Amino acid sequence: EVVAWDAEETSKGEYPHYMRKEIEMQDVSLANAIQGRIDDDGTTPDLDPFPPGTFAAIERIQFVACGTSFHAAKYGAQLLNNAGIPAQSFRASEYDDSIPVDEQTLVVAVTQSGETADTLRAFECAASGGARTVAVTNVVGSTAAREADDALFIRAGPEIGVAATKTFSSQVVVLSLLAHRVSADVADVAPWDDPAAFYDALERLPEDVRTVLDRGDAERVAEEFLGSDAFFFIGRGPGYPVAIEGALKFKEITYEHAEGFAAGELKHGPLALVTPRTPVFTVVTGDDNGTTVTNAEEAQTRGAPIVAVSAPGHRIDDVADASLQIPASHPDLAGLLANVQLQLLSYHTADRLGRAIDKPRNLAKSVTVE
Ligand code: G6P
Repeated sequence: EVVAWDAEETSKGEYPHYMRKEIEMQDVSLANAIQGRIDDDGTTPDLDPFPPGTFAAIERIQFVACGTSFHAAKYGAQLLNNAGIPAQSFRASEYDDSIPVDEQTLVVAVTQSGETADTLRAFECAASGGARTVAVTNVVGSTAAREADDALFIRAGPEIGVAATKTFSSQVVVLSLLAHRVSADVADVAPWDDPAAFYDALERLPEDVRTVLDRGDAERVAEEFLGSDAFFFIGRGPGYPVAIEGALKFKEITYEHAEGFAAGELKHGPLALVTPRTPVFTVVTGDDNGTTVTNAEEAQTRGAPIVAVSAPGHRIDDVADASLQIPASHPDLAGLLANVQLQLLSYHTADRLGRAIDKPRNLAKSVTVE
């Protein structure tokens, strides 16, 4: 697969920052990620270079990744586990030969650049243990793409802003397609529940992302909570990787204190930090996040403002003090939409604070040392 990046794609155009452009163009980058990858039947992936049966011998999946790519990997592992395939995500720097692998293990490196040293080292370690390897990357010809048994490209186009945005969304989409491929190939796994509903939502995703981008509520909410002492993000299931990604983006570009927690963990420690000056952004991705609502209420009782990141009509609306709305979607994709709201929240907060949005202090786009 050859992906050409042209000059227009690498210019800021009318946007004040590359990051803003990269957030705004996600309807386009997602359409590219999906293009031609859904079979005509509308219920299975058509994923070059992985024809049906490719993963028949695979028994488990391990993801290795860093930073934002790790959060996408964690999201992908959730989808696989939901489909009955044992999957784990590892921060690449914590992956070594103490982790058992064999020929039935598929190790997937998720890396935008394909050059992150920690990820490449983990990948090498997995390959020498006999694992089959796939690189999910944005860069054709990158080291990860070359060293993997196979590469799957996210086709997001160049990302110039140091903080990863559009590439996270495209990684999640591509990993969801890979999850469907693997689960269809592995014989003793029950078929995916109502795949047509997922693929309908996937085809609608660029439109749904556009709806989020055009809402304008993130800018208002950013303004409302400017000057808070700290910013907390909670979620469960696929909402958990979104919560920690939301916090990572926020700290990277605003330099404010932000943390993401599994919603249920709040009461096991972090609740001690909660005050009326610490908004709690609560990500809900499905109808069954009742416990997450309870967790948000626990923070609210201590005075924290609750900002719901959710689709309309969810029970969290009765609790929330403010909201970042997303369109109703499939539970596997709602987290991606919620994340777009959180990208906008971080962006507008950093913009109001006058931060160096495209090149935050102390950070690099691609980290090639361990
Ligand atoms: C750096 C970047 C992050 C990125 C991470 C992993 O820390 O600042 O935005 O998520 O590397 O990069 P990769 O290219 O492997 O996805």
